Amino acid sequence: MIKMKNIYLIGFMGSGKSSVGKSLCILLDCDYVDTDTVVEEKNNKTIVDIFASEGENAFRIYESKVLREVPFENCVVSTGGGIIENEKNVEQMKNTGIIVYLETSFSKIDERLKMDLSRPLWNQNKQKKKELFEKRIDLYRSCANVTVKTDDKSYHDVAAEVVSYI
Ligand code: S3P
Repeated sequence: MIKMKNIYLIGFMGSGKSSVGKSLCILLDCDYVDTDTVVEEKNNKTIVDIFASEGENAFRIYESKVLREVPFENCVVSTGGGIIENEKNVEQMKNTGIIVYLETSFSKIDERLKMDLSRPLWNQNKQKKKELFEKRIDLYRSCANVTVKTDDKSYHDVAAEVVSYI
């Protein structure tokens, strides 16, 4: 079996990293890792509970540790929206694979997530969410090897577009 470099999907909450990641795995016949899911499984707690009982910093430590434990090849990795806030995480992803940014507009994300309560950083006022979005855009753009705009595309079409670039 030919091994491939990892593909790391980055982007804001609601950009479709998990759904696109699963589609990509089917297209590429490779393994799938969702860092948020692994953090939850390892801690036996939801992300909401981790933020509430231990705080965001603890979550960031767990998230970075999970990223470091991902096999170095043959995986599509859906990351949490804040993974790029830690430079070492970006370095780790660059060194072990291709970083694909799923670029989605704020209005589309707002439409998709509406009153979603499973994401603590979405569960705050609109101004704060917008500020977080604006702050992260440059980070996503600067560390991506490939950018795919997702607003009016199905997850499957986004996955097929990713395959065409790699
Ligand atoms: C976060 C995004 C979430 C999750 C956590 C923090 C963020 O993942 O990691 O709630 O900082 O943007 P998704 O991007 O999959 O929603």
